Amino acid sequence: MAPTRFTLRFDPEATYFLVGCLGGLGRSLTSWMMDNGARRFIFLSRSGTDSKNAGLLVKEIEAKGAIVQVVRGDASSREDVENAVKSVSASYPIKGVVQAAASFQDAMFSSMTYEQWVNSIRPKVIGTKNLHEVLAGVPLNFFVMTSSTSGTLGTPGQANYAAANSFLDALARHRVSSNQNACSLILPMVLGVGYVAEHPEIEEGLRRKGIYGIDEEHMLQSFEAGISPRDNNNQTDHIVIGMDPAELQKSLQSADTTDAFWLRDARFKCLLQAIQSTDSETHAPKQSILSTIKVANSPAEAIEVAAEYFTDKLVRLLHLDRQEIEPNTKSIAAYGLDSMIGVELRNWIFKEFELDIAFQKLLAPSLTIKKFAAQVCGVEVE
Ligand SMILES: NC(=O)c1ccc[n+]([C@@H]2O[C@H](COP(=O)([O-])OP(=O)(O)OC[C@H]3O[C@@H](n4cnc5c(N)ncnc54)[C@H](OP(=O)(O)O)[C@@H]3O)[C@@H](O)[C@H]2O)c1
Repeated sequence: MAPTRFTLRFDPEATYFLVGCLGGLGRSLTSWMMDNGARRFIFLSRSGTDSKNAGLLVKEIEAKGAIVQVVRGDASSREDVENAVKSVSASYPIKGVVQAAASFQDAMFSSMTYEQWVNSIRPKVIGTKNLHEVLAGVPLNFFVMTSSTSGTLGTPGQANYAAANSFLDALARHRVSSNQNACSLILPMVLGVGYVAEHPEIEEGLRRKGIYGIDEEHMLQSFEAGISPRDNNNQTDHIVIGMDPAELQKSLQSADTTDAFWLRDARFKCLLQAIQSTDSETHAPKQSILSTIKVANSPAEAIEVAAEYFTDKLVRLLHLDRQEIEPNTKSIAAYGLDSMIGVELRNWIFKEFELDIAFQKLLAPSLTIKKFAAQVCGVEVE
């Protein structure tokens, strides 16, 4: 007989300590916690209810009977965390923590400033360490941290954010191994709510990397799994969401996917095998561009094929109108490559054409699509 599904109920007499939860995902989570019995919340946030959406959420849940404390403070300040914890009435002790603070400061690692690194690291690393230490003696039913698949995959352009999330995964393991509650909820991009939903350019970048998104309902189900009580049979310290081989296979087939960098990472060999076994059921293997070039009838035809293939990629990557393409005269740089997209394009060129082209060469004012195609085909052109 299938086990009955556990229904999560929160204790209305307990206080839930929510950090970073006046942001997109946290607001959705808070409403859901209310719907499932929670009545007492303490939020720690630097901007409190300054934003319209944060103010609305607090008003809305108070109107439904919630007792809300909004503490203005920084999770990476030990003093702010201690003051917030001290302000909770002993009659309604803290029984659960959600740490969802984050600061997104994307940049390629080579050009990332120290400030960008630190700003992204602080809320997750120092902030979570503070929560872990300040609440060390408090018996908690859950201590959930929102991590990201960026940490698992090592997403280019997010070295700071990836490192910060990996810290959460390691801290969860440390806590569970010392018999403390913890779950690192490793989320993929969430569609419809949250930071990615408010920044479509990030969603586009992740789609190009073959990553798919989950909706709000899926995100809340993941929280439910992360918050649910543990027992001796369930000591899970992290839950990875959004890496279902069948879904990844679909996103890898999409024309949007041009830089699935993680496929080349040996750590994901088993995942790749699982994706390929789904793939072989539905798709015949594709011929590589290099083999198409090799069987061309003449050098001119090979150059044409390579130029077409490269143009397709450039059009998709930079959202160009095909009319703008002037393969013989306009330089590749003139289509508007920035360093993030440039790195993606270089990786793609290496994967598809087995050509390791220096960034400066790719951006050279004299390098047209035609000249690039000729170089790939090993043909000298003027
Ligand atoms: N959105 C997604 O698709 C996605 C995917 C994977 C993982 N996640 C994770 O889910 C969590 C929530 O993401 P979101 O989309 O809701 O982001 P969000 O809307 O930007 O919310 C993050 C919140 O963190 C707070 N914060 C930042 N630094 C802080 C600090 N030092 N101390 C206290 N609070 C701080 C911010 O509030 P103040 O500025 O007022 O402090 C902000 O409201 C993050 O941990 C993120 O890494 C999100």
